[in-house]
Amino acid sequence: MYFITNDRDKNEYKKLGKLRIQTTLHPGFTLILLGFCMIFLILSAWNFNNTLNRTITSHVFYLNSRQPLLHTVSDKFLSFGLDTSLLRDMKSLPIKDNKFINLARHLAPAYVRIGGTSADCLHFNQTTQIISEEIISPVDGQDISNFTINGMDFENLYKFATESKLRMIFDLNVLIRADNGSWDDINVKNIISFAKNKNMKLDWQLGNEPNSFHHVFNRNVSAIQLAHDYHQLRQLLNEVGYNESLLVGPEVNHVGDTNHMGEYYAKTFLENDKNSVNYVTWHQYYLNGREAQLIDFTNLSTFNYLPKQIKSMQEAIKSSGELIPMWLSETSTAYGGGAPELSDRFVAGFLWLDKLGYSAIAGLNVVTRQSLFGGNYAMIGPDLMPNPDWWVSVIYKKFVSEKVLRLSTSLEYLRFYAHCTPKKAWIGKVSAITVYGSNLANFSVPISIQGIPIFHRNAKAFLYVLTSDSLQSRTIKLNEEILKLQSNGNLPSFQPIVFEPTQQITLPPYSMVFIVIHGAKVPVCYI
Ligand SMILES: *[C@@H]1O[C@H](CO)[C@@H](O)[C@H](O)[C@H]1NC(C)=O
Ligand SMILES: *[C@@H]1O[C@H](CO)[C@@H](O)[C@H](O)[C@H]1NC(C)=O
Ligand SMILES: *[C@@H]1O[C@H](CO)[C@@H](O)[C@H](O)[C@H]1NC(C)=O
Ligand SMILES: *[C@@H]1O[C@H](CO)[C@@H](O)[C@H](O)[C@H]1NC(C)=O
Ligand SMILES: *[C@@H]1O[C@H](CO)[C@@H](O)[C@H](O)[C@H]1NC(C)=O
Ligand SMILES: *[C@@H]1O[C@H](CO)[C@@H](O)[C@H](O)[C@H]1NC(C)=O
Ligand SMILES: *[C@@H]1O[C@H](CO)[C@@H](O)[C@H](O)[C@H]1NC(C)=O
Repeated sequence: MYFITNDRDKNEYKKLGKLRIQTTLHPGFTLILLGFCMIFLILSAWNFNNTLNRTITSHVFYLNSRQPLLHTVSDKFLSFGLDTSLLRDMKSLPIKDNKFINLARHLAPAYVRIGGTSADCLHFNQTTQIISEEIISPVDGQDISNFTINGMDFENLYKFATESKLRMIFDLNVLIRADNGSWDDINVKNIISFAKNKNMKLDWQLGNEPNSFHHVFNRNVSAIQLAHDYHQLRQLLNEVGYNESLLVGPEVNHVGDTNHMGEYYAKTFLENDKNSVNYVTWHQYYLNGREAQLIDFTNLSTFNYLPKQIKSMQEAIKSSGELIPMWLSETSTAYGGGAPELSDRFVAGFLWLDKLGYSAIAGLNVVTRQSLFGGNYAMIGPDLMPNPDWWVSVIYKKFVSEKVLRLSTSLEYLRFYAHCTPKKAWIGKVSAITVYGSNLANFSVPISIQGIPIFHRNAKAFLYVLTSDSLQSRTIKLNEEILKLQSNGNLPSFQPIVFEPTQQITLPPYSMVFIVIHGAKVPVCYI
């Protein structure tokens, strides 16, 4: 009975024209086409001038259906942060607002990481309130004065996380130090015992971008010292009863820079680490928010920076002799709070989706988007309305599972990835795979996906195309309709365009695409 009756199909097929989906290619024809491709290749090899070029229109993605899983990432792979600087003004943080909680909950399961430069300025429950003027860092204009939160503030943050079904990660202050340089852990003891007394379940980090302390705070904490401090924290956590909580670090930045400062710091940290960290964490940005231009957001050189950075960090971990998987624990398009009217607009989705795709094939376990709220890179605007990347993330969560497959693609401006589809998105208990990615070209590109046997001749593929009227639009369209929440805060029903799995489809210029191939016979996805 699989797909035999589907009233929706008729309407969906009407839309096909609009998106320039071509008529069904008979599988036999596809074979012939492939045959032509082969002949073409052979002819080219002999340097024949040929006229066959015109007939080769479609770019073929090939997926080996018998492949093993490439990786299994965390079920919270797509996560996000709230910068600790927001805690300086708790009243303005909408964590009690039901609209905000609802938007966060649509992204669950995920980690919400509360961290950032201000984590190393945060004091907990000081009896003598720290009254300090704003102190502006010469580096990035951030306030680096010390400040205080109390138990109620911490409880409110935790309550937000539980109501949104998120797992909180809290970044602890590593800059409270004795004159001899040793870490003073009394502040941290107060926080973790407070949390434990309230029976809170959460995970932890210590400090933020320690390799840049000199730059930001005019202070130095060596990687060896930090490894020692992490060990001390791990012991404290175990003693208090947080032995099952994760501890992740060292939160370095400047990875892939010409001086390799972040990698060196991480390497020394790991060489001195005594099994205290569960994941090696680092921060990644492509661009400087104050300088970035629209063209940088679709420039392939920008996209190709991430693989370089990941490789460099992988080598650092390997050379330390450790075998610990990585997290991008803070990452966005542009640092310095994001690029205005770019990092929170439609165009930012390309770098975000590509980062998710590439990080998964590279075996990273979690990618933490900076940020959920606040700054120019937020997924939720100050008006508590979703920005395009919130929608991209929601759709990613819906159609992309933690099981990562290998997909072979060829063109740089087509950046595509494949995962198994989450069970919740299957139809009639029949497994599916999701091929997703972007067409970064300013022209339409026909593609087809090859190599996937299907369970039933009535199996269909569902296509979800994300586009926008302008690259800098704050709205985003799914199959030509602007995405909006229902008035009760529920997600709209995402209406697919239905087509045959073997059919050629045409990707519009500057589009993000999710293709769910229902009934795909890829054993690792259903065994
Ligand atoms: C905060 O500090 C005061 C004074 O030391 C103490 O009485 C109170 O229990 C502390 N509260 C929390 C939440 O730690
Ligand atoms: C913030 O607190 C730390 C730890 O007590 C101290 O060393 C540092 O000087 C303070 N920073 C400022 C700017 O007051
Ligand atoms: C550093 O100073 C602290 C507090 O004054 C003390 O507890 C600690 O033992 C000292 N550490 C070293 C290595 O001297
Ligand atoms: C701190 O580190 C910087 C380089 O990151 C170095 O130039 C400086 O001399 C160091 N300062 C101290 C006091 O060790
Ligand atoms: C944590 O401690 C509890 C109680 O001592 C123990 O039962 C549990 O196995 C420990 N878990 C880990 C991961 O060590
Ligand atoms: C893309 O970025 C690279 C590296 O920054 C730069 O050399 C190149 O000129 C850029 N291309 C465009 C079209 O802006
Ligand atoms: C696409 O971009 C190229 C240059 O990158 C430009 O020459 C061409 O006109 C653009 N085409 C469209 C349809 O915008």
